[in-house]
Amino acid sequence: MKEKLEAIKAAAREALNSSSTEHDIEELRVKFLGKKGELTAILKQMGSLSPEERPQMGQMVNEAKQKLEALIADKKAEMQKKATELKLKSEAIDITMPAKKISVGGLHPINTVINDMIELFQSMGFDVVDGPEVETDHYNFECLNVPADHPARDMQDTFYLAENLLLRTQTSAAQIRTMETRKPPIRVICPGRVFRADEVDATHSPVFHQLEGLVVDKGITMCDLKGVLEQFAHEIYGSDTKVRFRPSFFPFTEPSVEVDVSCSECGGKGCRVCKGEGWIEILGAGMVHPNVLKCCGIDPEEYSGFAFGIGIDRITTTRYKISDIRLLFENDQRFLEQF
Ligand code: DAH
Repeated sequence: MKEKLEAIKAAAREALNSSSTEHDIEELRVKFLGKKGELTAILKQMGSLSPEERPQMGQMVNEAKQKLEALIADKKAEMQKKATELKLKSEAIDITMPAKKISVGGLHPINTVINDMIELFQSMGFDVVDGPEVETDHYNFECLNVPADHPARDMQDTFYLAENLLLRTQTSAAQIRTMETRKPPIRVICPGRVFRADEVDATHSPVFHQLEGLVVDKGITMCDLKGVLEQFAHEIYGSDTKVRFRPSFFPFTEPSVEVDVSCSECGGKGCRVCKGEGWIEILGAGMVHPNVLKCCGIDPEEYSGFAFGIGIDRITTTRYKISDIRLLFENDQRFLEQF
């Protein structure tokens, strides 16, 4: 039995040395120390020994058992340590590496200006409405008192999509849609994109932005128009800005005006920005033409109104001193990041 024990000890030591995984070790433990293991088997045979031999042999087997248990525990611990080290090494984080840059977007300067204008007009009691960019001839021209073959159509070079379908040349189309669906008193603005087949240069783009305004009620006069637009100009350009109303012509308003503000760059003396004029034109406006009211089912004997169309791009370029309108549409990040 002694020899057998020695053989088992030697076999166990060898098996332990050549095992390289935790799984191997567990198998080994079962093989020698498990319920049906080899050492356990020897313990079970103790009964066949003489009473003198029994304690001595029992001690030897127990010692062997304890030793093997300790060896297995050590080996397991060593393996676990190695595994942890390996894991830590593979998951190591180099805290000296440069951090990933988080880039935060910002509003396009045009949208900042639109938001400011919306806030301003809302404070004066205006609602914001929306209109489609693809319009019919009816809304963009016909009902705005610009019948087919009217010379005023030449004022705006139009992109046609089909015979009666076009890209709106002016947000004024939204006036008609509003008056068709709302009854006076009406006080709305409509900011949006408009399209004209213009030659591209520093001050012209085939896509640009307007903010339309419309007020219809009983007893609206040119004074109301002047008051609202002067307040608008002073809020946007500063209270010491001078505002000038010039007679003009638009088919959908009578009388019509164009509104200029004193150049914020030179204060009115004349410079490169205002092309020596001292004034910058920012919008067209006028009293809504009776034909326009009639076309929308509003009685011009009972109601009157004023309308205006503000050039948003011009307001943006003058506010931020942008020398070329094309910069607003090129999506050059180096430009946009400045706002
Ligand atoms: N729609 C005109 C344009 O694009 C601007 C304009 C002028 C709008 C007078 C108006 C207005 O509402 O009353 O040139």
